[in-house]
Amino acid sequence: MNIMLKTNDIADLVEADRAHVWHHLSQHKSYETVDPQLMVEGRGMRVWDATGKEYLDATSGGVWTVNVGYGRETIADAVRDQLVKLNYFAGAKGSIPGARFAQKLIEKMPGLTRVYYSNSGSEANEKVFKMVRQIAARHHGGRKWKILYRERDYHGTTFGALAACGQPQRNTDYGPYPPGFVEVPHCLEYRNQYPDAADYGIAAADAIEAVILREGPDTVGAICLEPITAGGGVITPPASYWERVQEICTKYNVLLHIDEVVCGLGRTGMWFGYQQYGVQPDFVTVAKGLASGYAAISCTITTEAIFDLFKTDASDPMNHFRDISTFGGCLAGPAAALENMRIIEDEELLANTVAMGQRLRNNLLGLMEKHPVIGEVRGCGLFQGAELVADRTTKEPLAEAKVQAVVAKCMSMGVIIGATNRSLPGLNNTLTLSPALIATAADIDTITATIGEALTAIV
Ligand SMILES: Cc1ncc(COP(=O)(O)O)c(C=O)c1O
Repeated sequence: MNIMLKTNDIADLVEADRAHVWHHLSQHKSYETVDPQLMVEGRGMRVWDATGKEYLDATSGGVWTVNVGYGRETIADAVRDQLVKLNYFAGAKGSIPGARFAQKLIEKMPGLTRVYYSNSGSEANEKVFKMVRQIAARHHGGRKWKILYRERDYHGTTFGALAACGQPQRNTDYGPYPPGFVEVPHCLEYRNQYPDAADYGIAAADAIEAVILREGPDTVGAICLEPITAGGGVITPPASYWERVQEICTKYNVLLHIDEVVCGLGRTGMWFGYQQYGVQPDFVTVAKGLASGYAAISCTITTEAIFDLFKTDASDPMNHFRDISTFGGCLAGPAAALENMRIIEDEELLANTVAMGQRLRNNLLGLMEKHPVIGEVRGCGLFQGAELVADRTTKEPLAEAKVQAVVAKCMSMGVIIGATNRSLPGLNNTLTLSPALIATAADIDTITATIGEALTAIV
């Protein structure tokens, strides 16, 4: 670590943090007795806290973000160069990095053509909700205004996104929510809702059709789904699921919005998670790994057919997408995203993600043989989860306190892993692993060996 903080500096900073910073998703009572932890530096797969302790980060910055790893000077240089040339101009005008990045991004997304810039995953999703509502208002006589979302999925922290939240521990207490958001059942076969189904994927997708029919197909405009549910339990969809979802969307003229905020930009070993399943979305939203956290940027990407709906009558001053994202005009975003994408390409990080993802998965399956507490290993690429259970036969979830103790034990041994957190009551029991796409075999083996030791110690 380059920055050596003196003991007094650390103490002051810890006190400043304790006194003034409100941390996300944190119960602050604990900081009355335990120091808040300050992260101060990162290189590659590793980060250091203010005490100088080194960690191997298997979470890409806590929330699956730093896809190309820490300390990337070329991204910092690209951002600096852009900032001194032109830091900002509102999105009604174009920019050099904005045009370049949109073109690069679209090259990776056959069938999609238009990119709308904003600055967080939540905001990118809100844009889709607004577009769907405006399409309903302008092209369906006010019908087709409802938006479906899935149990266990998460789409962000703003009110529309919370209305579309399939994780009750994320949205309880913050309502009332805007109407017109309707839940469909989850598709986690391990917690099978359709035991008699011949094909679980078809049954889980048909449950969406049942909701559309119940609500009335002429009221349903879109469905918003994660390609692989992230914080709701790393849920890889069962075989046949996505294919059937696509058929249902086509049949009822329901627009398909895929939330790639976690899976986008290589996390699963392909550019986008939906590409693993051969589906063709109408909207894709991307944030987090888009610039690996070097700048705040998100994109809402759609088709020319959708885009055209917003310019059908140029004489009508209301006939365009009446949306503003102030910080969608920060040019550090596309500058960082361009360099982030170049790194993924030049360093062949998709191939590395496939290879290291397989290794991570195999290692976790190896742990499963030794540790009955692992009920199931799920995931794709460098995006894996291990659901912990108190009893493999009954699948009773392991108590959350124990899951958190496993995470804490790994942390004490210098490896940062995640666990589903404040998502679903009684089901915050999945360890989550999302190392940067640069992970080496040695990194992967260290991560899983540490988890093994922690499971032995805690469970
Ligand atoms: C799948 C998914 N969508 C959207 C979001 C919201 O992104 P942001 O926190 O950038 O608003 C998240 C955040 O974790 C997410 O996991």
